[in-house]
Amino acid sequence: MNHRNRLELRKFVAPEFVCGQGALDLAGRYAHNLGMRHLLLVTDPGVRAVGWAEAVGESLTEAGVSFTIYDSVSPNPRAGEVMAGAEVYWSEGCNGIVAVGGGSPMDCAKGIGIVSVSGRDILSFEGVDRVPLPPPPLICVPTTAGTSADISQFAIIGDEEGRRKVAIISKALVPDVSLLDPEPLTTMPRDLTVDSGIDALTHAIEAYVSNASSPITDLHALESIRLTSKAMPAVLENPDDLNLRFSTLLASLHAGLAFSNASVGAVHAMAHALGGVYDLAHGRCNALLLEYVIEANYEAASIRYDRIGAILGQGQDEWMSPAGVVAAFRRSLGISGTLSTLGVTRDMIPALAERAYVDPCLATNPRDLSREEIEEIYERAL
Ligand SMILES: [Fe+2]
Repeated sequence: MNHRNRLELRKFVAPEFVCGQGALDLAGRYAHNLGMRHLLLVTDPGVRAVGWAEAVGESLTEAGVSFTIYDSVSPNPRAGEVMAGAEVYWSEGCNGIVAVGGGSPMDCAKGIGIVSVSGRDILSFEGVDRVPLPPPPLICVPTTAGTSADISQFAIIGDEEGRRKVAIISKALVPDVSLLDPEPLTTMPRDLTVDSGIDALTHAIEAYVSNASSPITDLHALESIRLTSKAMPAVLENPDDLNLRFSTLLASLHAGLAFSNASVGAVHAMAHALGGVYDLAHGRCNALLLEYVIEANYEAASIRYDRIGAILGQGQDEWMSPAGVVAAFRRSLGISGTLSTLGVTRDMIPALAERAYVDPCLATNPRDLSREEIEEIYERAL
């Protein structure tokens, strides 16, 4: 499907965002200007330990805004954590939310926001455009560069009972403000830097080949891929370099602007299934699936995949297919192994394919995939 109709109607939503060194210090001013009197600061124990929740707290206190910290958030945020957070939101009389952390606290914060105004179970909002009431104001301070939850209209919440991840997609989930500061990224360990960087790359690639892409999202997707190809290898050598960290943050921002509006595809549908069943790191699942999904999708968007391959593989001596370029790139970042290395077993493939097949992210994959074809991709990635 290389021919796309550029005249087809498309909309584009994005939050207000401030990017640069010191953006984090603006949290208090923005909270005050948004009318927050007492807010829920959603974070996780890891982010608290390295001091970023405290730094945001200082900014809030300076601006005269009080807060309650909620940090019972696990790496793949669960429905129960969202509902417990909403209870704290109500009992503490909050009228706004600040999220500090990676995708998990930010997605959890988005969930708490929509539950706080409706009182309904978070899982009842599953799907596209199913949030009827606007949530309270939300400020995001990302401490990773990849999830783009601070930009996007997506929240991914774990349904523990069903062992699946639920995608909630709505304009109501676009934060009011995102404060993009490179400094918090310097405390990310190497694995998290790599996994979140690959997540951003996957967002950009899937948005670029998405059948809901547009000239506006293409612009952001391509710039994101360009930035990632240059900055990711360099930042692993120089993790304290703020300019390089900022480039990865920009890559994530561009990817977020692209995928929030063009959506993603089969890699995400399949990674969500893996995350739901095995509770694995999202970025790592993407990394191990991406090249196989590109192979399966290639004929449906060959010109676009070739362009991705040309950007990401710039400087390589010999020609490689786009899937080969992506595989070489992830290996150059130190990601080796396969899905079985992560503990995935063949007998679970039908159940994984079943979950991926009904994931809303599959709707924008450049070609229709059957359950059997999804199973085959898992097989190849095993
Ligand atoms: Fe993602």
